[in-house]
Amino acid sequence: MKGMGGGRPSRDGPWRVGVLFSRTGVTAVIEETQLAGTLLAIDEVNDAGGINGRELVPVIYDPASQPARYAHYAERLLVDDGVSVIVGCYTSSSRKAVLPVVERRNGLLCYPTVYEGFEYSPNIIYTGAAPNQSIVALMDYLVHSYGGRFFLIGSDYVYPRESNRIMRELLRQRRGMVVCERYLDLLAGPPEFKAVMREVKRAAPDVIFSTVVGDATAHLYRAYADAGLNPNQTPIASLTTSEAEVGLMGADVGCGHLTAAPYFEGVDTVNNHAFVTRFKRRFGDDQHTNLCVEAAYFQIHLLAQALGETNSMDPDLLRPAVLGREIDAPQGRIWVDAQSSHTNLWTRIGRANALGGFDIVRESVMAIEPDPYLVSH
Ligand code: ACM
Repeated sequence: MKGMGGGRPSRDGPWRVGVLFSRTGVTAVIEETQLAGTLLAIDEVNDAGGINGRELVPVIYDPASQPARYAHYAERLLVDDGVSVIVGCYTSSSRKAVLPVVERRNGLLCYPTVYEGFEYSPNIIYTGAAPNQSIVALMDYLVHSYGGRFFLIGSDYVYPRESNRIMRELLRQRRGMVVCERYLDLLAGPPEFKAVMREVKRAAPDVIFSTVVGDATAHLYRAYADAGLNPNQTPIASLTTSEAEVGLMGADVGCGHLTAAPYFEGVDTVNNHAFVTRFKRRFGDDQHTNLCVEAAYFQIHLLAQALGETNSMDPDLLRPAVLGREIDAPQGRIWVDAQSSHTNLWTRIGRANALGGFDIVRESVMAIEPDPYLVSH
């Protein structure tokens, strides 16, 4: 991706923020875009004069899609680099590796990724969707539009397994059922996905619910296309197949499949058009925004606003200043729930189109309150 770099030096001494997104390994396809969203927002903050006259400078490491390296670099940032705030992590396994580090060192992690919920840490602000803002709406739409027999396929780690536990419960409440549940290694390739497609054909589900992430996403959708299945009849539905993964597999392969997310590049608001224009100007016309870019982007602006008030990176001061804060994000007005440290986010369902974007087929009328423990269900 073009145009990435560190911050510019400042005579007054910059504010430094740790950045942990992978530029290599199986989830680099999406994490590189989170890095891009982060750097765009940092540039905007600095172009507007910085925070109380001081620049915001990223301290960037590449954890190479390995959870242990996220923990290692989090420790390095908080101890050796003297940074107290980190933005980063895509997989829930990387977040769960960083969680004990930020708790032990009293750092603050801002996490911009949809996840499985059922977690709270006083040292994490969650800016991606919780299950009630993602799985619930998607399940409802799928059962209504296609039927209640679901084939669950995921990468083999905590987010897919926990999301499928939730999906199974929700389906039971709607008298639907799981006809098959399969997990593949994050490094699985075309032969493994071809074998799964044989099982899909035997099980004849109404929907394939995918929690496959990273490079393997392209193998899944290609195996589906090669098997001659029809997205109009039996779509793949996902929370993690964004514009970035569709770019990897090719728009023709992704076309017709469904994703639920707070944000798609095609959100039709003045604010979002301006955001997409700035993003493309910075990184190139062929680069697309997605739900993870957007969350990574708006959380930097939330942090910068809070820092403007506290004038301190001390997490004990900064965290209360982030909680409850509202902002006009590209997805619409959002705000951080002070009790749960999760964010009020919009819920949207998109169908991938022939251009590699998503046509929005359903959306909430405003941001939905996060319910990470699904108490209301
Ligand atoms: C994820 O692992 N939370 C996508």
